[in-house]
Amino acid sequence: MARKSSSPGDESVTSGFSRRSFLKAAGVGAAATTMVGVGTGGQSAQVLGPDAVTFNLKVNGAVRAVTVEPRVTLLDALRNHLDLTGAKPACERGGCGACTVLLDGAPVSSCLMLAADAEGHEITTVEGIGTPEKMSPLQAAFVEKDALQCGFCTPGFVVAGTALLAKVPSPTLDQIKAGLAGNLCRCGTYGRVFEAVQAAAAKGKGG
Ligand code: FES
Ligand code: FES
Repeated sequence: MARKSSSPGDESVTSGFSRRSFLKAAGVGAAATTMVGVGTGGQSAQVLGPDAVTFNLKVNGAVRAVTVEPRVTLLDALRNHLDLTGAKPACERGGCGACTVLLDGAPVSSCLMLAADAEGHEITTVEGIGTPEKMSPLQAAFVEKDALQCGFCTPGFVVAGTALLAKVPSPTLDQIKAGLAGNLCRCGTYGRVFEAVQAAAAKGKGG
């Protein structure tokens, strides 16, 4: 639907709803209930909430029960209920990649996903990729190449890089840049991050 051209302060739209009234309505709906598992035809829609519900999440190979309100994100469930703090809350709007985890092997922003929607999927966090005692080849390459400064973004880069190498074992530099394009490092350590991915790829182990 076309929007009227508007000044920054003019929130009217042709439908008769203003952006503010839409957000208010959406906020009320989110507080009351959460709909999860909606298929393309809506056939598997399930309405949960507003009270906490218990469901299972398969994280790093283990099935773990969580009891959370349906509005809770996967990121918060992992950090606050399962004590997995590797995924980091930074922008919390899908813009930085600090909260990246793997869902069935594909990188996702866990700040944008409801925990309840992750039920039935294989979730892998950076803790499941390796440990300080037994690092994955990519984690070891991050250490070897000194690919971090503050390190806050590092788990997200490791998770995204692991997904990239699983899909493209010998990526070009451009493929590495594209594979990590959803991750931001405020310190600007990109060069060393790219070197770490190249080093892990060269070892042919791919994380
Ligand atoms: S915290 Fe999720 S993308 Fe930034
Ligand atoms: S090392 Fe990534 S934000 Fe500093």
